[in-house]
Amino acid sequence: MLPLIPLLASIAPVAATAAGPAACAKITTQLGSSKVVSSELSLSYIESIEYWSTLQDAYKPSCVVYPKSAQDVSIVLQAVRAADSRFAIKAGGHNPNTFYSSVDKGVLLDMSSMTEKSYDPDTTLATYGPGGVFGDIYEYFADYNRTVVGARLAGVGTGLALGGGMSYLSPQYGLACDSFRELEIVLPSGEIVIASNKSNPDLYFASRGGGGNAYGVVTKYTVQSRPSGEFWAGNLIYTFPQKDNVIEAIGNFIQYNTDPKAAIIGTYEKLGTPDLNLNLDEAIIMFLVYDGPDPGDAFSNFTSITPLLDTTGIKTYLEVVNMPIPMSTEISRGANIFRVGVHRPGDGSYENALDIWRDWAETNKGRYTLLSLDFQPVPKSLTDASNAQGGNAMQMPDGPWFWLNYLITTPPGMSEADFNAVQASYRDMVKSSGNAEGLPLFINDANYDQNPLQTFSAFAKLQEIKKRYDPDNFFADKTGGWSFE
Ligand SMILES: Cc1cc2nc3c(=O)[nH]c(=O)nc-3n(C[C@H](O)[C@H](O)[C@H](O)COP(=O)(O)OP(=O)(O)OC[C@H]3O[C@@H](n4cnc5c(N)ncnc54)[C@H](O)[C@@H]3O)c2cc1C
Ligand SMILES: *[C@@H]1O[C@H](CO)[C@@H](O)[C@H](O)[C@H]1NC(C)=O
Ligand SMILES: *[C@@H]1O[C@H](CO)[C@@H](O)[C@H](O)[C@H]1NC(C)=O
Ligand SMILES: *[C@@H]1O[C@H](CO)[C@@H](O)[C@H](O)[C@H]1NC(C)=O
Repeated sequence: MLPLIPLLASIAPVAATAAGPAACAKITTQLGSSKVVSSELSLSYIESIEYWSTLQDAYKPSCVVYPKSAQDVSIVLQAVRAADSRFAIKAGGHNPNTFYSSVDKGVLLDMSSMTEKSYDPDTTLATYGPGGVFGDIYEYFADYNRTVVGARLAGVGTGLALGGGMSYLSPQYGLACDSFRELEIVLPSGEIVIASNKSNPDLYFASRGGGGNAYGVVTKYTVQSRPSGEFWAGNLIYTFPQKDNVIEAIGNFIQYNTDPKAAIIGTYEKLGTPDLNLNLDEAIIMFLVYDGPDPGDAFSNFTSITPLLDTTGIKTYLEVVNMPIPMSTEISRGANIFRVGVHRPGDGSYENALDIWRDWAETNKGRYTLLSLDFQPVPKSLTDASNAQGGNAMQMPDGPWFWLNYLITTPPGMSEADFNAVQASYRDMVKSSGNAEGLPLFINDANYDQNPLQTFSAFAKLQEIKKRYDPDNFFADKTGGWSFE
């Protein structure tokens, strides 16, 4: 037997690289060449391998497939399985974790052609496909004066909803996944099923915030739509002198605001350039959004601090999701990595995490081009709205609490060694802030090594569901995704 081992070892890589083209050939035969692109020079191929985190743009799938229906997706999954190829499912391509929606030498399932939408005025249910971005989805439903709970920035894709999905409307209606009513899903076996609280309720539970890329490919979302009228909204941009007051106001809003129509994101930005004691390297950008024309006192703790710039006023929902400027998701493409923390207000962890982050930012100048620390409140009204709709995979404990989203953008052309060193140091910094007991980490902002599913109280149940729907670990072995170990 022994002499066979080197022989097998030399065959294995060849077999692995041949699997992608073999799967692509079979898919082309079955779906026709119009839905499959293998040429790295084709415009659609080039567009398909662009990611928000450009670190992934280097990977070259053997082909990109553009399914148009659940049947197409089923054929693709079966061909991928038969060829033993790797694959990835890509919606908007914003997940910064390697191989979560990118693939090297396998099959890239680009969902962008599946953009069908519908609205039923009798039931007020809305449907949308996994393709396109939330800006397009909002635009469609705006014709009916309705919207769906989705991304806060127009350019983000529908994978957001499978990871929960924090919207400006979430304090009223829960996360995006809480408004799901029925999902059409192609299972790892290729079988097409409906997941709802009547049909495959376990799969439905796991798909509500348990993350994409795990239990199958969602090919249609049926959701409860929501009314959409005028908003009072805008950005307030603050520089150094008001910093501490704004930080305090964010903490107070997280702890005390009870108006479910009021939503904020507080983002603290640091540039990697030396500050030369002028403090021109940092700013706080507040996103204030009120569902209605008059916010009353909801934001007065912010508006009473004089900003450098104020863009607040009456806006449509489409204008709201294009704050601070249109195309901001596209503009912020770069060598981006996310991490996340979770905290309760009023226990000192807020101030502690901020101090640790600021210290790291100062001592690591030059090793990043941008750091952003985003405060994302989870008020009690949000967790109540989630529970009232059956609860999601996070089984969110009562608010108020908040997620801290850490973004780091590293300079282009950084050596691999320098990149790994700065990421390890950044990871340790975030870790040293600790997390509140008993609260879930947010999948949509998490790094792969943070294993967010393990922080869910329903983790054991999710492991069982994963085993039931992906029994031979096809997804676990052949594409990226959150660890169930
Ligand atoms: C600029 C920016 C703004 C953001 N704003 C918000 C925000 O307001 N609220 C929020 O909650 N999050 C936000 N996020 C985080 C965002 O939710 C995640 O990055 C999410 O992964 C984006 O989904 P996507 O479709 O764009 O990305 P993708 O990388 O294409 O998809 C994300 C994951 O889901 C899987 N997936 C996608 N579609 C399917 C499907 N149909 N079936 C099965 N698996 C699927 C993919 O394989 C991938 O692993 C933001 C991120 C960025 C970069
Ligand atoms: C949407 O609202 C506007 C303004 O109130 C109204 O003029 C229009 O008729 C509404 N459209 C629909 C489809 O209800
Ligand atoms: C504003 O801050 C104060 C503390 O300074 C707090 O008592 C109040 O509840 C806050 N208001 C809102 C609407 O968050
Ligand atoms: C099923 O979904 C409906 C609609 O949201 C909800 O009213 C009902 O409580 C759910 N049933 C269960 C058993 O969760």
